[in-house]
Amino acid sequence: MEERKVTMDKIINLCKNRGFVFPGSEIYGGFANTWDFGPVGVELENNIKKAWWKRFVQESPNTYGVDASILMNPRVWEASGHAQGFSDPKMDCKSCKQRFRADNLIEEYSKGTVAAEGMTNEQMEAYIEEHKIKCPHCGNHNWTPIRQFKLMFETSRGTVEGEKDVVYLRPETCQGEYVNFLNVQRTTRAKVPFAIAQIGKSFRNEITPGNFLFRTIEFEQMELQCFCRDENAFDQYADYKKQALKFAEDLGLNGERLRFHDHDKLAFYAKAACDIQYKFPIGWEELNGIHHRSTHDLSRHSEYSGKNMFYLDPVTNEKFIPTVIEYSIGVGRLALALLCEAYDEETLENGETRVVLHLNPAIAPYKVAILPLQKNLSEKAKEVYALLSKEFMCDYDEAGSIGKRYRREDEIGTPFCVTIDFDTLEDQTVTIRDRDTMQQIRLPISELTSYIAKATKF
Ligand code: GAP
Repeated sequence: MEERKVTMDKIINLCKNRGFVFPGSEIYGGFANTWDFGPVGVELENNIKKAWWKRFVQESPNTYGVDASILMNPRVWEASGHAQGFSDPKMDCKSCKQRFRADNLIEEYSKGTVAAEGMTNEQMEAYIEEHKIKCPHCGNHNWTPIRQFKLMFETSRGTVEGEKDVVYLRPETCQGEYVNFLNVQRTTRAKVPFAIAQIGKSFRNEITPGNFLFRTIEFEQMELQCFCRDENAFDQYADYKKQALKFAEDLGLNGERLRFHDHDKLAFYAKAACDIQYKFPIGWEELNGIHHRSTHDLSRHSEYSGKNMFYLDPVTNEKFIPTVIEYSIGVGRLALALLCEAYDEETLENGETRVVLHLNPAIAPYKVAILPLQKNLSEKAKEVYALLSKEFMCDYDEAGSIGKRYRREDEIGTPFCVTIDFDTLEDQTVTIRDRDTMQQIRLPISELTSYIAKATKF
């Protein structure tokens, strides 16, 4: 495969300079590992979410959407196990005060040959001491003991001072799907297998966030829980693996940079788990997860809520707690993968370099840019903008040479540029330029909408 020109730094710079993503709270010096999506980035995000929803809800007759609250009854997090167990082993470097995950220190030191995941805190401390593992930041070996670092953000509810109840910002969206299992089944009369999907924000007090959008403390997830009979669960699992891979490829990720990675170590209730990994510029990393979770989730919610979370088969009259297959992917992480995949630097015939994002047109922030060749053509150009913006997100640019304007659109991945020239005034035709081939054709204005709609459909 051709060597890629993309690096994480190039993507971060492009994102900041072209309005995809800005550092969170930047004018206050930022707020570590939070990012704000800008005018172009929010369109990319929305298009990714629309494509996921279309594929997994709209086109899947047995999948139903919900939009559950971020703040949930704290008992939910006891049932899910997060209140007790959702924490990471952290160590602080006493010299430079940087904080690290102990398991990451071991895995990086051993270049992945030691699986720290299965070690106790005492074993990890002993390993770090024995091998005198140094702080990756300052190079000293001067560690605090391991302490468990809680990953859930806490806030409080209550109006009377001093009497506040702790509530949590959800660390995953799927619990909103489990707690609505009975509601959705009752109101839709869905028969198993059926799925509940949602897209929403999650929050994790990650110890080692970083790598731009890859791991942040606030992020959006697109999650889907399929409820099925236990005997069919492995088939569903295999099917979601296929669907998840196909979705990633259809959005534009190169199949050669995608692979399945089965988990060696499973949670005690899980029957199978795998990630799809993408080859980011930082290496192979998890893009999304697919999990066979047995009947664990609904059983726990039955136990903790006191409500029977069973399904009554209308044909056989059997009552059973369905098994869950989960598919889960982060919007920001997927956006990062798509940006890395799309990025290219091409040498043009005149020797100049153009930076171009070959994004799938369906997720490109703007579908078309309207560019009057000269300022005195702007009235006609605005007419075309008014027509096209009824259907598509459009950009409008009349500043600078046409070449510079094309370059700006290439850098944000706009698949089409429509140029208005003096012939347009005479014959109602325009030039439409293709981002990838840079070929230009002449089209009547009346045909633009259907031409662009066809080329940007997902
Ligand atoms: N409900 C299952 C669950 O949340 P997960 O593997 O922890 O599983 C699923 O997360 C997906 O959410 C990941 O594959 C990744 O795409 C995204 N994700 C998780 N933590 C993230 C973070 N801190 N920042 C950005 N995306 C994250």
